[in-house]
Amino acid sequence: MTPIILDCDPGHDDAIAIMLAVADPAIELLAVTTVAGNVTLNHTTRNALRVLDMVGRPDIPVAAGRPAPLVRDLSTAAVMHGETGLAGPLPQEPSRPALDVAAVDLMAHTITAATEPVTLVATGPLSNVADLLTQHPLLVDQLAQIVIMGGAVDLGNWTPAAEFNIWVDPHAADIVFRHGCAADRIPGRVPLTMIGLEVTHQAWLTDEHAELLRGRSASGTFVAELLDHFVGFHQERFGWEGAPIHDAVTIAHLIDPTLVQTLAMNVQIEVDSPLCVGRTVADRWNVTGLEPNAFVGLGIDRPRFIELLMKRLLP
Ligand code: RIB
Ligand code: CA
Repeated sequence: MTPIILDCDPGHDDAIAIMLAVADPAIELLAVTTVAGNVTLNHTTRNALRVLDMVGRPDIPVAAGRPAPLVRDLSTAAVMHGETGLAGPLPQEPSRPALDVAAVDLMAHTITAATEPVTLVATGPLSNVADLLTQHPLLVDQLAQIVIMGGAVDLGNWTPAAEFNIWVDPHAADIVFRHGCAADRIPGRVPLTMIGLEVTHQAWLTDEHAELLRGRSASGTFVAELLDHFVGFHQERFGWEGAPIHDAVTIAHLIDPTLVQTLAMNVQIEVDSPLCVGRTVADRWNVTGLEPNAFVGLGIDRPRFIELLMKRLLP
């Protein structure tokens, strides 16, 4: 089993990432930490607790992190996810509160207590991950790897230049990528995988998947109802057939590393340009000669991803 900490901003696709992590025997979900992003921190935290209740895992510790980016003001995606960030057939109130500790402290405790190196998965803005790397530099070498959903080699999805998670907190992303490495392990650096839009824009589900899932289980009905909302949104905005389940790809990648094709490359984060802030400047053709600091996803075996996700969402 791969022991992981999931830092997230649920958000519908974050919720499915939690479900997949809990359902697949290859993953041991040690802790969930929350960050502001899709919606405000109070909602992302409440949503993480509600999803874990729904999948029968109220034992998994949850701690809230940053309510806002390191430097920029918070801008959410409530227009896409709704004000509470998670609609659908979920327990309305969590069965328990989040722990009375900061996310970065739960991360540090979990990493230190683990009997083997922990993988840190981040599916929201990287504010908490940046805090861990700067506040606990000695833990960097104890991490197995960091896998994020964020960024893009090509176009963004929140601005023409930037993907949402990086755009919300580019300063945090800059810290994370400066700590990244791609090939051999470097002291003070951690192997970093960037699952960006080139990959996740192929990871969509359709109304047909919704009908296969509806009524089969609490999780299945939840996903079906979110697809009812999300497929239409993406058909109107992007003209796509389905809704991309961005965040679940990070977990699927850990379950089966053959699903996503990656390439080591240098990635830098634009933090200043009003036009391009939040852009992951990925040196796809190695024109800078700069050392690669991330394995960047360029494609996915879509049929096998869908097969894995549906198998785990169905009872
Ligand atoms: O751009 C997609 C990302 O932004 C996903 O993580 C989604 O949950 C939103 O946070
Ligand atoms: Ca997310």
